[in-house]
Order: sequence, then C-alpha cells, then structure tokens
Amino acid sequence: MSSQAARLVVLVSGSGTNLQSLLDAVADESYGARIVAVGADRVGIEGLARAERAGVPTFVEKLSDHPERDAWDRALAARIAGHRPDLVVCAGFMKILGAPTLAAFPVLNTHPALLPAFPGAHGVRDALSHGVRITGCTVMLADAGVDTGPIIAQEAVPVLDGDDEAALHERIKTVERSLLVETVGRMAREGWTVTGRTFRFGRPGR
Ligand code: GRF
Repeated sequence: MSSQAARLVVLVSGSGTNLQSLLDAVADESYGARIVAVGADRVGIEGLARAERAGVPTFVEKLSDHPERDAWDRALAARIAGHRPDLVVCAGFMKILGAPTLAAFPVLNTHPALLPAFPGAHGVRDALSHGVRITGCTVMLADAGVDTGPIIAQEAVPVLDGDDEAALHERIKTVERSLLVETVGRMAREGWTVTGRTFRFGRPGR
C-alpha cells in the first residue's frame, strides 16, 4: 500500500453498505486512499463488523457515555485525531459533528436526497411524502448545520409508482455507494478547493 495514499477515517451508525463500498475500493492501490479506522456512535452494528472483518481498527464513542454533548464532541475528535486522517467520511453516521472535529479535519457526508431539498434524518421519507418524481443522493462537505455544507456531487434517482420508503432508499443507496466511492477517490487523488459554497476538484493554484 502506498504511503502516499490519503488516510480516511470512516464514521458509521448502521449497516455500513457505503463503508463496504469504500473498503472494496481501497483494496485497489490506484484508488489513492486507505481506511485507517472506522468509528461509530453505537455498538452492535453491521458497519463495525464489516470493518473488523476487513482488519480495520475500530472505535466507538457513545453520546450516552458523556455528561454533555460538548464532552462527546471533544472525545470523538480526539479518537479521530489519533488516526491522523486526511479526510473524515460520514457514511451513514447519524449524528451532527461538533466544532472540535469540523475545525480539525475536512469532513465529507452523504445524504439520500437531492439537497437542499429534504435534509435531515428522514430525507427519503420526506421526499416520498412530498410527492417528488425525482430524488437522489448528495455528497457534500459537512459543516455545523444539518446537511448544509458545500455540495460536491449529486445524482438523480426517479421515484417509481408504488415505491415505499424502503424500496426507494435501496435504489438510492445503489447510486449513493458509487457516487461516494468516486467522490472520495477523486478527492484523495486530485485534492480540492472550496470558494464560498463552490467545491472544485484540483489542488489550489493548478
Ligand atoms: C445512507 O443512505 C446514508 O446516506 C443515510 O443512511 C444510509 C446509510 O446506509 N444517512 P449504510 O449504513 O451505508 O448501509
């Protein structure tokens, strides 16, 4: 594995299929990134099991183990910092990150709707109940808001007659996994700049 590969810490809260796509991608050295740790806010999830099966170090920082949110934010940031990431990837991590993490590292997030429509924990359900005919997924930089950071990449997914939340979310996730892998790889290989809300691949001054 190249020592030049970007170091990723991936954060998960659930089944970890997005994580799995990244684990599969980093097996190819030309991808340009490696996963140095997987963190979670809860135990007993398939996301952690996927990391363990891949031989990737894991850590868990539960909000309920701390007297207040600030203490959890600081503890999580310290756990992440211990792995010296170049990029933190929230792959279905169902907590808003606090200032200690956001100030220290670039953080990427993925969301199962076409932002700025339908932010928050129920993007698929909200799009469906609004009656949209096209939804999709968004990969963006995380900031202090709920799904409000600069958008990096988006892909559309049509809503089909008869879709329920589970069926639509599965179709979105198929697209989301590819978009996440492609986006993280390009960021690792090409670098990026952000001007205001505008994200561009490529290192500054090129
Ligand atoms: C993804 O759709 C993500 O955008 C959303 O939760 C899902 C996580 O899926 N926040 P998985 O855990 O990667 O399978």
